Amino acid sequence: MSLSVYVHIPYCIQRCRYCDFTTFEQSTIMPPKEYLKLLLKEMKNRAFTIPEKLLRSIYFGGGTPSLVPAEHIVSIIHELANLGFILDKSTEVTIEINPATISRKSLDTYLNAGVNRFSVGAQTFDDSLLKLCGREHNAQQTRQTLDLLSQNQLNYSFDLLFALPGQSLDQLKSDLDIISEYQPKHLSAYCLTVPQGHPMEKGRPPEKDQLTMFKIIETHLRSLGLEKYEISNFAYPGFESAHNLSYWTNKAYWGLGLSAHSYLPEPNYGVRFWNSKSFKSYEAQVTLKPQLSPHETLPPEQKEALKPHESLTDICHMFLRMASGLPEAVLQNLFSSSILSHVWPRLDKLTSQGLLLRTEEGWRLSAQGELISNTLFAELTFNSEEIR
Ligand SMILES: C[S@@+](CC[C@H](N)C(=O)[O-])C[C@H]1O[C@@H](n2cnc3c(N)ncnc32)[C@H](O)[C@@H]1O
Ligand code: SF4
Repeated sequence: MSLSVYVHIPYCIQRCRYCDFTTFEQSTIMPPKEYLKLLLKEMKNRAFTIPEKLLRSIYFGGGTPSLVPAEHIVSIIHELANLGFILDKSTEVTIEINPATISRKSLDTYLNAGVNRFSVGAQTFDDSLLKLCGREHNAQQTRQTLDLLSQNQLNYSFDLLFALPGQSLDQLKSDLDIISEYQPKHLSAYCLTVPQGHPMEKGRPPEKDQLTMFKIIETHLRSLGLEKYEISNFAYPGFESAHNLSYWTNKAYWGLGLSAHSYLPEPNYGVRFWNSKSFKSYEAQVTLKPQLSPHETLPPEQKEALKPHESLTDICHMFLRMASGLPEAVLQNLFSSSILSHVWPRLDKLTSQGLLLRTEEGWRLSAQGELISNTLFAELTFNSEEIR
């Protein structure tokens, strides 16, 4: 087993209109230097509770990690090594960067510290749509950032946001043309998601057009050699995100920083725990009783020991997100035959309905199943009455 580490950096240049992540405009909260001290304290105080030391991946996400001084990112990587975590060339180290927030100098600092993957929040190359989202950057700045990464032959991914209010197919197609120019090795395509009644719901393409948009994206990316390996993620073979794969394949991850989530697949059916979204409680909690593990010190609303039905539901949902699907062996390794006797008939039914396909190793979503994945996932949601 190996560990993935997520480090949350909660600073942004602006608060985008659609965003629900725990982030703040930089000037409105504690300075990055103070926050770094808390992160280092959390690492020191908690490292002994994390059973796995071999690092499969580190992911600096946010927020906008490229907004804080690059030396802070270096300090975190060094501290992980000082604490006995093992990083080598095979450890994937990603940083999310927003356009116009890196320089040649910060790039060198990241590279020297072992960062080997960059995830660029491009969203769209249409300036009017960027404005509508409340983004400060423009397409020209995204191009400058991507040029810097390309010229240095770096491994980068970018995020594409689609189905924005008023977005036409032509606007989407020009985004895709620019993707062809850059040919990233990895791309995440996110359909804008906002709650009902949100101001950005108005004027969005209707659901059927959103599906058409996704199909156009998928076809275009495939023509560039980018294969869909998860519902929203595309990569050249071998360039899939190791960090995200950890989330979807039931591996341990340790989340550091404000609001960050952690998961350990053991003991029993696994434990989840998560940090507070408030700076004040986060600070109090990372300093508290350092001799105890987070599941012993965190309040009940910040932790859960998974029950069999919850673990089973998570495993089915997470593995089926991926093109490789849900292996039968994974279910057999984790659950008793009496539990699985409730699962086989559901998988058989979904297969006979054409929503799942039987593969050599297990099951994967069919094209039709992908279209109605929410309904399909509801069928694979188990309750405590049936699974004990
Ligand atoms: C947590 S953000 C961090 C990346 C970076 N700060 C940025 O926004 O450019 C990761 C990605 O989530 C996506 N995202 C954020 N809010 C979203 C929403 N409401 N619907 C769909 N995608 C969203 C965006 O594409 C964004 O790049
Ligand atoms: S820059 Fe990214 S994380 Fe920050 S508010 Fe915008 S979408 Fe959210």
